[in-house]
Amino acid sequence: MRLDIAVLGGDGIGPEVVAQSLKCLRSVEETFGHTFKFKKALIGAEAMDKKGSPLPDETLKICKNSDAILFGAIGMPQYDGNPDSKIWPEQGLLKLRKELDLFANIRPVKVFPALIRQSPLNKKVIQHTDLVIYRELSGGIYYGNKSMDSGTNIATDTCSYSEDEISRITHLAFKAAKNRRKKVTLVDKANVLETSRLWRRVVKSISKSYPDIELETLFIDNAAVQMILNPSQFDVILTDNMFGDILSDQGSVTAGSIGLLPSASVGTEYAMFEPIHGSYPDAKDKNIANPVAAILSAGMLLQHFKLNEEADALVAAVLKSFSKKIVTPDIMGSSKYGTDYVGDFIADNIMEID
Ligand code: NAI
Ligand code: MG
Repeated sequence: MRLDIAVLGGDGIGPEVVAQSLKCLRSVEETFGHTFKFKKALIGAEAMDKKGSPLPDETLKICKNSDAILFGAIGMPQYDGNPDSKIWPEQGLLKLRKELDLFANIRPVKVFPALIRQSPLNKKVIQHTDLVIYRELSGGIYYGNKSMDSGTNIATDTCSYSEDEISRITHLAFKAAKNRRKKVTLVDKANVLETSRLWRRVVKSISKSYPDIELETLFIDNAAVQMILNPSQFDVILTDNMFGDILSDQGSVTAGSIGLLPSASVGTEYAMFEPIHGSYPDAKDKNIANPVAAILSAGMLLQHFKLNEEADALVAAVLKSFSKKIVTPDIMGSSKYGTDYVGDFIADNIMEID
């Protein structure tokens, strides 16, 4: 198969971890006889510094002309929450998601048996965790009207959702549940928020066309507690943009490190694959960032194109790195292995499985 892949490393550790995904995809290409063409493009703080925009037109064009996008992370401390800045790196990612209409961010959270002792949570509580979060990605408070009145010191962010926006991700979540343990948990704040009330109405109505799927509803505050107390109760979690962001970072405690969790952001036309973590600026160029979230995101890219054997080979190589303890220090504090070494090990161990 030939695939044109846009590569947006971004800021901080983004380029380092994406470089490891590329090694793995090159290994897949060689092992299985595919042709992957990679095209790098600027996004985030680096794009602001070099091109004056967090999402230059050229980058958008490259993304639109590609079959898929590999993304690292964006964001640098000098821009975080800076009230004097009119533009900031995160706008690049938000705009990209909007322009490509990437409305569903799919975030699996699993416990890897070889790493079960790395989580601070009780082994018995987390051992069967295998859930996937369907986070709405193109609406909600991230995209609603915003204002900041420096005279009155009143700032506003608006959370808004349409029935169509809720409906399209809901169908994806229910379809995913059909091939899993047949349960969808809608996480919202319907006791307070109008948008959540709309989510409940739309999701309940759609659930009638999936009679074999159980629908459960939970308030976000309770869901946050349940994620820690009993994460194995969840199968598919369906939720809005902000609740999904927070809940999935929380889920990383179950897995052992946020550096392990991948995601796929999909729409009807485009798809982007990105670790759930941010740019972790303190670790930039220190060769300590965990590349596994980015590598498993490349695995989700392979699955997206139905290259299942290839994805299985990549995951098998990741699991081998865990069992051989070839991991970065976020997993095992005493580990001496760096980002590059772990990436090389995984890429070198991608092979056809008989
Ligand atoms: P972060 O995810 O970058 O880092 C939080 C903590 O998670 C780090 O201190 C580190 O302990 C750990 N961590 C993250 N990635 C890791 C990895 N690959 N290996 C090992 N440990 C890892 O989130 P933070 O500190 O809140 O934000 C830093 C910057 O990233 C900010 O500018 C923020 O806006 C941006 N950001 C970007 C995202 C994206 O591009 N999708 C998502 C979240 C934050
Ligand atoms: Mg997050």
